[in-house]
Amino acid sequence: MLKIAVLVSGGGTNLQALINASKKGEIVNGEIALVISSNPDAFALERANRAGIPSKILIRKQYASMRKYDDALIELLKQFQIDLVVLAGFMTIISDRVIRTYCYRIINIHPSLIPAFSGEGFYGLHVHKAALDRGVKVTGATVHFVNEICDGGPIILQESVAVMEDDTPETLQKRVMEEVEWKLLPKAVSLFCQGKLEIHNERVIIKTNV
Ligand code: GAR
Repeated sequence: MLKIAVLVSGGGTNLQALINASKKGEIVNGEIALVISSNPDAFALERANRAGIPSKILIRKQYASMRKYDDALIELLKQFQIDLVVLAGFMTIISDRVIRTYCYRIINIHPSLIPAFSGEGFYGLHVHKAALDRGVKVTGATVHFVNEICDGGPIILQESVAVMEDDTPETLQKRVMEEVEWKLLPKAVSLFCQGKLEIHNERVIIKTNV
């Protein structure tokens, strides 16, 4: 059984999707062993608590340097023997050192079809506002491995959602979450835990015959 840490900052609906999938046995060979929040008031912490999952709060500003913060994060992940780190709406930048320590063992959910509306400054509602401002007719969500390039790591799964003429950033965010994010993230996590994701030339191959 692989041990999963879910890193959160806000409402934690993606964490909830993982918890629900786990309860239904849909995360094959994986268990959520730890939730780490960058925000002490995140509702995600309440969700972890209700599900009986240990949680920790790690606030970047409380550490004198990025290095000290990284040390604390890596120490925590090691202490809980974490195999897979899932960024589920985590709003603190993960440093290259942490990324190298957990090379191809960190995955992120992003609320657009990468490479559209991704990279620095594109997070949460900003992503959906940018999509509406550009007038795209289709958007979606992407689950990808995290590498040193912001939102630039190998793509694991993507799925699209139609944009409606009367969408606001809020209605679009809700539909992208409900129709795609809450399905795609548990699916990608389960594939990882079963050893079905391989990376060749920075591209993910999903092995279907194992
Ligand atoms: C989700 O829509 C997720 O895709 C997005 O933040 C939201 C978190 O919601 N992540 C990013 O924008 C990362 N760049 P949640 O706390 O309810 O899961």
